[in-house]
Amino acid sequence: MRITIKQELYLITEILTRMGVSEEDAAIVAEVTADADLKGFSSHGIGRFPQYIKGLKMGTINPQAEVTVERESPATALLKGNHGFGHVIAYKGMKMAIEKAKNMGIGMVGINNSNHFGIAGYYSDMAIMQDLIGMVITNTEPAVAPIGGKEPLLGTNPIAIGIPSNVHYVSVDMATSAAARGKIMEAMRRGEEIPENVALDAEGNPTIDPCAAIKGSILPFGAHKGYALAFMIEIMSGPLVGAAYGKYVTGTANPEVECTKGDLLSVIDPSCFVDLDQFKSEVDDFIAEVKATPNVFIPGDMEIRNIRKFKKDGVSIDKKLEIQLKDLCQEVELRWDDVVEK
Ligand SMILES: NC(=O)c1ccc[n+]([C@@H]2O[C@H](COP(=O)([O-])OP(=O)(O)OC[C@H]3O[C@@H](n4cnc5c(N)ncnc54)[C@H](O)[C@@H]3O)[C@@H](O)[C@H]2O)c1
Repeated sequence: MRITIKQELYLITEILTRMGVSEEDAAIVAEVTADADLKGFSSHGIGRFPQYIKGLKMGTINPQAEVTVERESPATALLKGNHGFGHVIAYKGMKMAIEKAKNMGIGMVGINNSNHFGIAGYYSDMAIMQDLIGMVITNTEPAVAPIGGKEPLLGTNPIAIGIPSNVHYVSVDMATSAAARGKIMEAMRRGEEIPENVALDAEGNPTIDPCAAIKGSILPFGAHKGYALAFMIEIMSGPLVGAAYGKYVTGTANPEVECTKGDLLSVIDPSCFVDLDQFKSEVDDFIAEVKATPNVFIPGDMEIRNIRKFKKDGVSIDKKLEIQLKDLCQEVELRWDDVVEK
């Protein structure tokens, strides 16, 4: 079946508010999750929602948690999320980094004691919307083995960078693993195979079986280069922000245990370096050059194409997910018919 983005937003906010989450926080979780589905990152869309509900039920997500400021300077802050929703904490952290960048030229906010925040690109988009450059990194529970090793010691450690332009949406948002772990989990739920050259089984042999991949490891993207980048992200969103690193990171995919990962949100005001209009028009000129060759895309094109498609067609819900969502509706006495009538 398919549901519209409006129905998805309604479904998430209704279930969350009926489970004691404030309307404001529920709206943020719904926005970020629907944004993932719109951009074609279904691995981090509505399919991940049951994970968050499990976290609420297990007490690893505290819907009443307040974010506390642990350290602060004019350009930086370290926030403790106290195990609230990762989306809400990252949203607040990015707002703070944006304010700091507007005042100081750069703003950097580190976060610990948070939870899975969905897609990194939602938060770098917040900077773009204010004519600022945004960069978001986070670490996750281990999934990737170092090159030459078999034991997963690094997360899928995504990075998102967003750049303001007059004409284009310029954003890269990707895991540093060959595929996001969510894509493997999604294939497992749908009973599908995963592509070749993405994962190894527990013995270190290539596999296209998502169940074997989850027990084994996901390869880094781009061989040693993806590993090296994931390695740096592990440190900059782990020890740098008072969060866990390597095998001590828990709770990003398994909501039954407390989440120990960290985030680093960075914002740069281009106008502190050059004239903003000149910067944006040079970005546009560069894109025009790159796109002069037919069939060349820039980072962000895929998301724009998907947003157009999924706004029109809605989001696909597989049978297993449909059952999970209907069960959740029943638990909070929300009629499925009320959802699909939206
Ligand atoms: N919260 C977490 O812990 C976590 C962990 C891992 C991944 N994620 C999220 O998972 C999502 C999916 O990650 P992924 O690695 O599967 O993404 P992906 O492999 O689909 O790569 C997506 C990026 O590549 C760009 N791209 C695609 N084709 C292109 C082309 N031909 N030319 C130029 N650019 C192109 C897209 O515009 C996009 O920015 C991301 O939103 C990421 O933030 C989150």
